[in-house]
Amino acid sequence: RHVLAPDISSCHLPLGFPRGERPYDCCAPAPGYEPRLFRPTPSVEVAEAVQNSTVRREKVRPATSSADASYAAKLARAYRLMKALPPDDPRSFMQQANIHCAYCNTVYNQANSSQVFQVHHSWLFFPFHRWYLYFHERILARLLGDEYFALPFWNYDHPDGASIPWFFSSRTSPFPELSDASREPAHDMPATVALDHNVDTESRSHIVQMRENANTMYRALLRDASAPERFFGWPYRHDDPPMEHYGCGTVELKPHNTVHDWVGNRSAVGLKDMGTFHLAAHDPLFYAHHAQIDRLWELWKAIPGHRDIDDDDYVNAEFLFYNEYGEMVRVKAGDASDLNLLGYRYEGVDTPWMHYVP
Ligand code: C2O
Repeated sequence: RHVLAPDISSCHLPLGFPRGERPYDCCAPAPGYEPRLFRPTPSVEVAEAVQNSTVRREKVRPATSSADASYAAKLARAYRLMKALPPDDPRSFMQQANIHCAYCNTVYNQANSSQVFQVHHSWLFFPFHRWYLYFHERILARLLGDEYFALPFWNYDHPDGASIPWFFSSRTSPFPELSDASREPAHDMPATVALDHNVDTESRSHIVQMRENANTMYRALLRDASAPERFFGWPYRHDDPPMEHYGCGTVELKPHNTVHDWVGNRSAVGLKDMGTFHLAAHDPLFYAHHAQIDRLWELWKAIPGHRDIDDDDYVNAEFLFYNEYGEMVRVKAGDASDLNLLGYRYEGVDTPWMHYVP
């Protein structure tokens, strides 16, 4: 039986471009070897710490609402270093951003199939983006020489995080490497993020929008997401054609897609950068947005009765990434399940919407 995996040698120009947009080549540099399977295993240090039950240092992703100036400066330095790498280095910011174009504008065919490989609108959405951030974070950490360095998560589900974080803001950030000129100017801070963004949300007051945000969170993680297939999205198996929005899980639709569109520039083709697949990851805020989405997966799983999909076609689906040493590896969707094995966790911050009764 075939496993759903991208065929790196099949790389072609992106498909599914917004009308009026000129396509560009986002194929990853092809390695001259067969990528080995990378499986997360507890590090020696962790194993020892467990044995001796000593306290170990942990990699903790901080909330943007609690990140201080020295953390922000360090994050900026990491991106400065990443942006300074030659553009053909797979760890460079350009290549990191192009990963999104490659998997989202379907530049690869599925291995042993004539169908293209698409990670959105299906149950691959969570595990793909978790692995994407995993390697992205390790590359940043290695550039900084601090293996405990962790990405921030934009906790827009909390009133304190409901605007573009100050260190990413084009208006207030002293760090140009964290801002992006292609965002909606009217949505820069102090505008309130609309987690249910649509044409009508533009005229809402802060108070009303905060209530709707709580409502959106409550629906995406609780009310509408008790069944795993509603939360994760539709099954996507070898030789399946990609789906459209109907395949999305609750969180992928809202707040994920809506926050992308809310950040992107309304006057630009395809709401770029954040609102369009091929350019979204050129905005550094993309990674903080996706760390938040990744955290929502953990929050959902912590609710009694919720567990990850164990279907073989999900567990064995594969992705390809360059690691922090510039080596291409294969990873499995099912191996993204356990954060202890992946070696990071999220700062515990309040989730007021959990107790929201609509
Ligand atoms: Cu690959 Cu935020 O989508």
